[in-house]
Amino acid sequence: MRFVVFFASCLLTLKGAPTADQCSFPYRRIGEGCYLIINDTVSGDAAFAKCLHRGLYLATFETINESMLMKFELLKMNAGVHYFVGGRNINRYTSGGDWRWIKKNGDMVKMTYFAFDDGEPNGSLSAPQDCMCFYASRKYTFHAVWCENGGVVGGYICQRHI
Ligand SMILES: *[C@@H]1O[C@H](CO)[C@@H](O)[C@H](O)[C@H]1NC(C)=O
Ligand SMILES: *[C@@H]1O[C@H](CO)[C@@H](O)[C@H](O)[C@H]1NC(C)=O
Ligand SMILES: *[C@@H]1O[C@H](CO)[C@@H](O)[C@H](O)[C@H]1NC(C)=O
Repeated sequence: MRFVVFFASCLLTLKGAPTADQCSFPYRRIGEGCYLIINDTVSGDAAFAKCLHRGLYLATFETINESMLMKFELLKMNAGVHYFVGGRNINRYTSGGDWRWIKKNGDMVKMTYFAFDDGEPNGSLSAPQDCMCFYASRKYTFHAVWCENGGVVGGYICQRHI
């Protein structure tokens, strides 16, 4: 009987609320998010696909709180690498664009704050820059960049939904 109770409580523990273990190395818990930070030299579109291939999604930062915490970590790491995030301009015809966070399920959440660097985003219809990254050489402020090969290359931050 004791054993039964013991196993039952183990099962309950396993099924319970997410624990820190679910975000253990190589994942990193930063604030309330669980992230995988990858050093690489890929385009924004490749970064998007690479997170999906890992069963993750390119990280979204709906609150300035979340993005400031990540920026602080990247400044500490000081890797000299730009990191793509899951924000995207979905309308080049609008001045300044229409920037959205692309969620795990494909939902698009309008950006409610702008933590872009001075003069950013500065894409246009003829010179589109629809992807965004934490830009290393500008203290990890957000920069709008060209999505495909030939533009800025960098690493990326994937997010795990737990
Ligand atoms: C900001 O994030 C921290 C860490 O997750 C959390 O403790 C705090 O409540 C958040 N503050 C707001 C205003 O969301
Ligand atoms: C990325 O590079 C930085 C600087 O070299 C290093 O501190 C960090 O651990 C690297 N991250 C990964 C995931 O390899
Ligand atoms: C946008 O501004 C950056 C500097 O912040 C510059 O390197 C880039 O050429 C500009 N792009 C366009 C399309 O004006």
